[in-house]
Parts: sequence; structure tokens; C-alpha cells
Amino acid sequence: MQLDDLYRRVIMDHYKNPRNQGTLDEEAVTVNLNNPTCGDRIQLQMQLEDGIVKQAKFSGEGCSISLSSASMMTEAVKGKSYDEALALADKFSEFIKGEDVEFEELEDIEALSGVSKFPARIKCATLAWNALRKGIEHDNNNNNK
Ligand code: FES
Ligand code: FES
Repeated sequence: MQLDDLYRRVIMDHYKNPRNQGTLDEEAVTVNLNNPTCGDRIQLQMQLEDGIVKQAKFSGEGCSISLSSASMMTEAVKGKSYDEALALADKFSEFIKGEDVEFEELEDIEALSGVSKFPARIKCATLAWNALRKGIEHDNNNNNK
């Protein structure tokens, strides 16, 4: 199998069988973000406790790239400390711009490597990761008040 085919399969698997799709209760930190280029929107909800991402779920509409990326992101960050999760988000930013990066946390993410060649799609792939940053920053700000 070609690497491209394999990557396409991984992406479609996350799109069709999304991990962590759904909602959490009203205690959860909720972030709504939309992709200005297409109007698609996702909601990310996280249970943040003691500096740890205990649970993460997403819902909303989007293309296969944005929803598969949300599925992968939630899988990768569950159980991670805020610092670890933010470091992963930084790593993803480098990766999606075309840097050669490996994700030992969740190899599936590497299936999105082809996206770096398509600037419009980069926004799709980063939507969920931006929501992650926003949610953690929001919680940090609240705790420092
Ligand atoms: Fe067109 Fe994402 S903006 S596919
Ligand atoms: Fe809208 Fe990708 S086309 S999120």
C-alpha cells in the first residue's frame, strides 16, 4: 500500500468513526470556534482538573480534515498535563507547516502530513488544536485570579 493511501485510510477512519465525539456536562470548559474560510464550526469541551486534561469531547460540522484532526487531537491530549498538551499543540503547528515531526503520542496524526501543501486546509487541521489552546488558557487565567 502506498503511504498516501494508508494516510487517507487513517484520516477517513477518524472521520467516519470519530473518537471522543459528543458533549460533556455544563461543568466542562467549552470552546466554540469556527473556520472563517468555510464557516464550519466545532465545539470542544474539556474536563480540566488539577492541571490535567481529564476528558475531551468535540462536536460540530466540518470537513474530513477538520473532524479527523479533532478526533486525533482529543485522543492525543487526554490524560496529559496542560504543559504537555500545549507542547503537543506547538509540535502540531510545526508539523502542519511541513516540518518533519514524529508523534510518538499518537502516530495517526502523521497521516495529516500532506495537509501542509494546502494552505486552506491547514486552517481545517488546526481548528481543534486552537480550541485546545483556548480552553487551557481560559482555565489557567481563571485559576490565577
Ligand atoms: Fe476548504 Fe477546508 S477550507 S477544505
Ligand atoms: Fe470547513 Fe475544513 S472545509 S473545516
